Amino acid sequence: MSITDVDRVTVLGAGNMGHGIAELAALAGYEVRMRDINEEFVQNGYDRVEWSLEKLAEKGRIDEADADAALDRLTPLVDLEAAVEGTDVVIEAVPERMEIKKDVYSELERHAPDDAIFASNTSSLSITALSELTDRPERFCGMHFFNPPVRMQLVEVIAGAHTEPDVLELIEDLAEEFGKTPVRVRKDVPGFIVNRILVPLLNEAAWIVNEGDASIETVDSTAKFDVGLPMGAFELADQIGIDVGYHVLEYLQEELGDAYRPCPLIVEKVEADELGRKSDVGFYDYEDGGATIPS
Ligand code: 3HC
Repeated sequence: MSITDVDRVTVLGAGNMGHGIAELAALAGYEVRMRDINEEFVQNGYDRVEWSLEKLAEKGRIDEADADAALDRLTPLVDLEAAVEGTDVVIEAVPERMEIKKDVYSELERHAPDDAIFASNTSSLSITALSELTDRPERFCGMHFFNPPVRMQLVEVIAGAHTEPDVLELIEDLAEEFGKTPVRVRKDVPGFIVNRILVPLLNEAAWIVNEGDASIETVDSTAKFDVGLPMGAFELADQIGIDVGYHVLEYLQEELGDAYRPCPLIVEKVEADELGRKSDVGFYDYEDGGATIPS
């Protein structure tokens, strides 16, 4: 299969990343089916795509007609069989738990066309291990987007131990069709490139606050105004989801050692289900529409 054969794209998961990936695919002209496990999740994802397209049009980043056409190309679905019927590429963006991914892939391989390519948006899990959950490890690779996908330029394309080179080429071409810059990660290493650098940075920021050396506001303003990052560490953790960062750290600790142990401040937030923007409170409180430190 080459990129010109790709017409239909299925995105599994309509959450923080899935809805943004589906939006990108629809904007690039593909017929997209976005699937989640219940009506509420899938509708929420669809509403977020609609909001985002309106925002992009309002800011002049896309034409209104293109926003409307993209929405018309996007079908939200709960039925997995219907979501993958006749599809060419499946991009999986379900929660970062091996047991959830295992269930999804076992259902997926029963219904997906034999020649469909599977790409996982996993933040850090082993692409080789994920590929071995499927009947097509050679047509499986990582396609890792960054949050928010419509605004972030980079896509990591990760080879598993069994991935065929033409599959990597096709997924890189697809990333380019989405208007992104693919970077190939040749080895399936924990955290790939970006999360291996970025998530420990967020963890270090949390340790600084945990040890009482500085406040969240001071760390974030230092990151932005002195280090020149586009967002503070805590703002970014809230944006990507504190649980997502936590799962990456858990995996890095398991694979690479205790230098990656999640800071207790992060663990507390996950246990309290205060996960960032998606739950209206994380390190900051977003309930009143702004971003304040919870009292
Ligand atoms: N769709 C459309 N518009 C969006 C949007 C989306 N999904 N998300 C945010 N916006 C809008 C905002 O609502 C805001 O609009 P407003 O001004 O009307 O309130 C506007 O975009 C802000 O954009 P600007 O260009 O004006 O502002 P910035 O220059 O600050 O750019 C940014 C925003 C591109 C998000 C920038 O802050 C940035 O690059 N942040 C860093 C993000 C990052 O590092 N992401 C990677 C995280 S790691 C990851 O995702 C991996 C995972 O595996 C953990």
